[in-house]
Amino acid sequence: MDVYEAIHQRRSHRLYKPELPPREVLERVIEAALWAPSGTNLQPWEITVMAGRVRDEFVELVSQALKNLIPIMQKAQVPEKSQDLVMKFFKNLGGAPAVIAVTIDQRPDDPTNLANIQSGAALMQNLLLAAHAEGLGTCWMTGAHSLETEILKFLGKETKRLLAITPIGYSAKEPPVPPRKDREVRWLGF
Ligand SMILES: Cc1cc2nc3c(=O)[nH]c(=O)nc-3n(C[C@H](O)[C@H](O)[C@H](O)COP(=O)(O)O)c2cc1C
Repeated sequence: MDVYEAIHQRRSHRLYKPELPPREVLERVIEAALWAPSGTNLQPWEITVMAGRVRDEFVELVSQALKNLIPIMQKAQVPEKSQDLVMKFFKNLGGAPAVIAVTIDQRPDDPTNLANIQSGAALMQNLLLAAHAEGLGTCWMTGAHSLETEILKFLGKETKRLLAITPIGYSAKEPPVPPRKDREVRWLGF
């Protein structure tokens, strides 16, 4: 798949089929993710791929973050219909058969912290695009971060920071295309 096609066609998927993608497909996606650039090539990340019972237990934990999200959505006056969709998605991560968690190195006052976050984000984007090229859906998520401590404990990564999680699997519903805003892009000296 052409890289421009992948960038434009990738979407956030919030409803999945129950079939687990073949292990070799997931491995290709992870391998592509790991080829992301990183600050001073530190590669300051770890990836945890969960399926089966571990996935179920992890999703159960993540779903508990919903109670912290509800007041935030109410305060932000998110329409009730959208709130219902978020709640439905959070309860079972759209039924995705696998979930990936990305953790990164972050230490107090460490000068590499900002670069490490950006490196982790580059890895996430690689992962999402590679998954899309494999016909898989994903949804980059930070909505469970109110439970970061509990999630890191679950993952056995208590000394790290949680960058993001994503469900991964075959999409069961084509998502809408959220429009992009016009943003200032300056071309100087042309
Ligand atoms: C840093 C980040 C955090 C996100 N967190 C969530 C989340 O917690 N839950 C969710 O449903 N979508 C989440 N998203 C997905 C965005 O809502 C989505 O990318 C945006 O609406 C644009 O839609 P598209 O990805 O289909 O182009 C997140 C995306 C990013 C980049």
